[in-house]
Amino acid sequence: MNQDEQKKIAGYKAAEFVENGMIVGLGTGSTAKHAVDALGERLTENFNITGVPTSDRTADQANGYGIQLLDEPNVENIDVTIDGADQIDPKTGLCIKGGGGAHYLEKKVAKKTAKQIIIADDSKLVDNFGGYDVPLEIDESKRAGVRLYFEDASMQFEYREEKSDSGNLIGDVVFDGSKTLEEFEAELMQIDGVIDTGVFNGLVDMLIVGKEDGSVEVISY
Ligand code: A5P
Repeated sequence: MNQDEQKKIAGYKAAEFVENGMIVGLGTGSTAKHAVDALGERLTENFNITGVPTSDRTADQANGYGIQLLDEPNVENIDVTIDGADQIDPKTGLCIKGGGGAHYLEKKVAKKTAKQIIIADDSKLVDNFGGYDVPLEIDESKRAGVRLYFEDASMQFEYREEKSDSGNLIGDVVFDGSKTLEEFEAELMQIDGVIDTGVFNGLVDMLIVGKEDGSVEVISY
């Protein structure tokens, strides 16, 4: 099974946890896209959901299926969210998100979610986050100061050209693995101008992995 097929079986499996009438967080990316397809295809008179999209891209996809949508600020409690990840530790559910630049809204949605499901192919599974990029959401007015912080600390950092859907800058900093990812994130959140990071710590309730042999593994936390 190729990688996209693995993403698809994970996405369709996750959609099975969604029940009629639920408020559902709709993730962003090439994996989450399959879950939106699965939900959109299931809509009938007897199965309806309200989606909370985590990006403009996902909102467009959901609109194409006629899924009714609510924006995150207008929702207090979300029943289930299905989203992808860039790297995830299957032992703990700790993960890094934001390769597609949607991490800020994805995390806001996750924090309001009762059951956060991450879907992945097995290339996303890691036992160590050293060497991977951590995406950041950055206040544009603090652009120069944030860059200077990383230069002074000799940390590898780059701004992306595109902004987030919220209009903020996005940057990526390399995690060198010399401390825990949780400690690294706490340090990043102290930097003046860093609004949020793509580290999801303690937010994931279930991981669904589509495997090369066509099987699906479901891990609960
Ligand atoms: C979007 O910004 C991200 O958090 C994605 O959820 C994550 O990067 C996974 O994307 P893919 O499923 O495309 O790998």
